[in-house]
Amino acid sequence: MIKTAVFPVAGLGSRFLPATKAIPKEMLVVIDKPLIQYAVEEAKAAGIEKFIFITSQGKEAIEDHFDSHSALESVLQARGKTEDLEKICSIRIPEGQALFIRQHEPLGLGHAVWCARHYIQEESFALLLADDLIQAHKSCLKQMVESYNDDDGNMVAVIDVPESEINRYGVLDIARQSGAKVVARGVVEKPSSANAPSSTAIIGRYILRKSIFGPLGLKKQGAGGEIQLTDALQTLLASDTPLTGFRFKGDRYDCGTKIGWLQANLALAASDPELRPYLQSVMVTLNKAS
Ligand code: G1P
Repeated sequence: MIKTAVFPVAGLGSRFLPATKAIPKEMLVVIDKPLIQYAVEEAKAAGIEKFIFITSQGKEAIEDHFDSHSALESVLQARGKTEDLEKICSIRIPEGQALFIRQHEPLGLGHAVWCARHYIQEESFALLLADDLIQAHKSCLKQMVESYNDDDGNMVAVIDVPESEINRYGVLDIARQSGAKVVARGVVEKPSSANAPSSTAIIGRYILRKSIFGPLGLKKQGAGGEIQLTDALQTLLASDTPLTGFRFKGDRYDCGTKIGWLQANLALAASDPELRPYLQSVMVTLNKAS
């Protein structure tokens, strides 16, 4: 029963400056929705009922986005714009089901997760990184929740990445593979390509055991001087909590990079019957010009 999800949204988004000078990077739009909305919708589709956001200064727009907006709602109502009204009302997270916790310093993903420690009641919880937008027939987190069992310990969504990109990820050392599941015997954060134990990399969907807060609480610095979630997963693995990689069905776009964000926009436009013809005509013009 995974009912709680944590969304770390405290990052500075410096790769997208100046766009992210005054707006949170999680509010960057892909087609017509901000990145964080894709992640929250994915969590809702997986049955999540409690939403914990780890925020920092300047991230207030995220809280507003999932709140009601009575002035706007009244105007839309008065003008009979029922479709738009429905769009903005369906975004809301029901009262009492969202929690916003400030991370005071950017000490790393592991530290951001640790900030939620007092608010996780169940034995396991989900973690979603909004940078990773996943387009899938069945939401990636739902696939994970459905296949998860206690023997999996901590579960991470994984993909295979090219050697040139491996140093951007947490990477699994694989003991064996069974169907969609990969049993890890180790995990390392941002290895060089020469030291990477495999090409199987963690992307931003996790099911974590509550025991993760033990090693995270030690606040040991890892790669890049940050408190790394990957290191806490490795510590638990060494003390007999399994780590399972999950090969989900779907396409993942790394919207933390300009290229990934552009690919996400193009892929979503291509699968939208209204936008697809326009995209095709742009492609024809581009092809002619080159
Ligand atoms: C984080 C994790 C890393 C994971 C990645 C997925 O890194 O530390 O293990 O592979 O997310 O996107 P970041 O992208 O925050 O540097």
